Amino acid sequence: MEVIIRPDATAATQLTAAIIANQVRAKPSSVIGLATGATMERVYAELVRLHREAGLDFSLVRSFNLDEYEGLSPEDPHSYRHYMNEKLFNHINIDIRNTHLPHGQAPDLKAECQRYEELILACGGIDMQLLGIGRSGHIGFNEPLSALQSRTRDKALTPTTLAQNASYFPTPDAMPKRGITMGVGTILEARNIALLVTGSAKASVIAKAVEGPVTSMISASALQLHPNCQIIVDEDAASELTQQAYYHWIFENEDDWKPYRG
Ligand code: F6R
Repeated sequence: MEVIIRPDATAATQLTAAIIANQVRAKPSSVIGLATGATMERVYAELVRLHREAGLDFSLVRSFNLDEYEGLSPEDPHSYRHYMNEKLFNHINIDIRNTHLPHGQAPDLKAECQRYEELILACGGIDMQLLGIGRSGHIGFNEPLSALQSRTRDKALTPTTLAQNASYFPTPDAMPKRGITMGVGTILEARNIALLVTGSAKASVIAKAVEGPVTSMISASALQLHPNCQIIVDEDAASELTQQAYYHWIFENEDDWKPYRG
């Protein structure tokens, strides 16, 4: 695991988008794992800009989103499918048939989760997984106590997550209380992972995830087990990390980061 601290949310977002862009340039048929939420909106805006202004080509890319709300149709404006179409897919040259999310209204949820896992495998697995972290420590909708080897399944959302995302819905009752999510084990099978965290509200949880013990109480702590995982934080999100000087040194000195130093 490497932690990279950037001065602000804009710089952290640009670095994350550059990592995705370099993956797509290096392997145009990349399988990319995608997340939703407020943090990701800026990443997608930057990827759209790179597509329009620098010709970043998504025509062969295939994508798998982490999660979807249970019970929402793809057309529902609160569904993650709708979010992805609006924030990214409608603005780049990806083939929409190559974009995948779990079906929130699948009649047989177990079969749907199995189908999703099999589709990821049939596409050769995920080359690069983009992640955010929730205030509960979740990645995807892997709420506390998610098994570290869990697979795609349906999951009850915690009060913390219901509160975090309530503002997207007209009333608290309108928000689904469950989601379908890739498991922690599914996520850990991605060949590369980039987790973006911005803002002081996430400082405490990212410090636990990165510098605390690996525990199912903080699903993101499982990323410590991954050999190719980058955590990109802004100064605000980094404020409770104890090894900040070391993390700054890594970015300034390691060859891998040279292309990103500008
Ligand atoms: C959603 C997802 C979640 C979010 C997390 C942070 O697809 O994967 O884990 O990344 O809840 O959300 P924001 O950025 O809205 O704080």
